Amino acid sequence: MKVVSLETKNFRNLEDSKLICDEGVNVIYGNNAQGKTNLIEAIWLFTGSKSFRNTKDNDFIRFGEKNAKIALKFKSQGRIQNASITFGEQKKVILNKEELLSSAKLTNKFCSVVFSPSHLTLISDGPMVRRKFLDNILSQLKPKYVAALNDYQKAVHQRSELLRDAKYHSDLLPLLDVFEHQAAVTASYILDTRQKFVEYMLPVIKEHYGGISKNREQIDILYEPSGNLSDFSVESIKKAYIASRSEDMITGNTSVGPHRDDLTVLINGYNARNFASQGQQRSAVLALKLGEAHTIKNFINEQPVALLDDIMSELDATRKRYILNCIKDWQVFITCCERSDLRGLNGGKLFYMKQGKFTERKSKKED
Ligand SMILES: Nc1ncnc2c1ncn2[C@@H]1O[C@H](COP(=O)(O)OP(=O)(O)OP(=O)(O)O)[C@@H](O)[C@H]1O
Ligand SMILES: [Mg+2]
Repeated sequence: MKVVSLETKNFRNLEDSKLICDEGVNVIYGNNAQGKTNLIEAIWLFTGSKSFRNTKDNDFIRFGEKNAKIALKFKSQGRIQNASITFGEQKKVILNKEELLSSAKLTNKFCSVVFSPSHLTLISDGPMVRRKFLDNILSQLKPKYVAALNDYQKAVHQRSELLRDAKYHSDLLPLLDVFEHQAAVTASYILDTRQKFVEYMLPVIKEHYGGISKNREQIDILYEPSGNLSDFSVESIKKAYIASRSEDMITGNTSVGPHRDDLTVLINGYNARNFASQGQQRSAVLALKLGEAHTIKNFINEQPVALLDDIMSELDATRKRYILNCIKDWQVFITCCERSDLRGLNGGKLFYMKQGKFTERKSKKED
């Protein structure tokens, strides 16, 4: 998977232009607030996912304008493909001259893995972000998983509502068995899929974290189900729902199940959320992201494009060197403020970004 070029029009602060990309490394450097992340974001939107900055479509349109358009030429499955997205009153998504119903239909057509500082919440925030990390990857790979998540949410919602109503209408209680059974069947599949997926990614994540820390530190990842489950069978999950009924009736929520689970990241045996340093948290997120890239690569048989926004700050020289070396076989877009952050990186293209305008730089003297 390679980006050949990116064209933008009225996209955030970026000057209308066309970026002709290198097949290997593309560095975008410049001061703060110049448009580096905006460029990364424009490429990312072609994955069909929402922005990693949690913004709405209208935010992409340059202040004072009515429409914005981004167009990507990329190489995938051995051929050149063209996609464009127009934002405005009417959103328009086109892939190879064919109009798609929504951006989501671009999923798996153009594939990329993004790291941005907003992903540090993957370690520092509560369990929801980590569940989302798993769910997002699994949803891209398995349509059945998306359906199971939807069915599960519906069943849990019905169970919680029933528990609230049952306070006043005890005759409704027999219905609980029905909803709990429905929830347990889908929960069993979700838990099993997540657990297997974590086991699948773990060796790659461990290898990368070992490399990043020069084997001085060890990472571990544990899938931690809520409730005291002995296994992920439908029967065990049903038992957990029954055991939590009286408590859940008071709160009106369902307190056990995949929507309450966590993925604990340990560094040298300690929970990274509470004990990891800034650099360790960043390294752990990078290792998770490299695990994600490995999974996508095995699934689509092509290396996804790496978008690394501001990864270098807070990493020491050894960690930086590892990252720069382990990504050298894929196409990568890296942003940074200082060119010196990328010492040790050879080849590729260098773009200097200033007030939304990038210029290609060749030698050091031109700065
Ligand atoms: N819709 C928009 N229209 C015009 N300008 C915008 C729009 N959205 C964001 N901007 C501006 O784009 C500028 C650059 O943002 P960006 O996040 O790309 O900076 P950056 O180069 O990545 O900086 P940093 O190094 O601090 O991360 C911001 O100052 C912001 O005000
Ligand atoms: Mg930025």
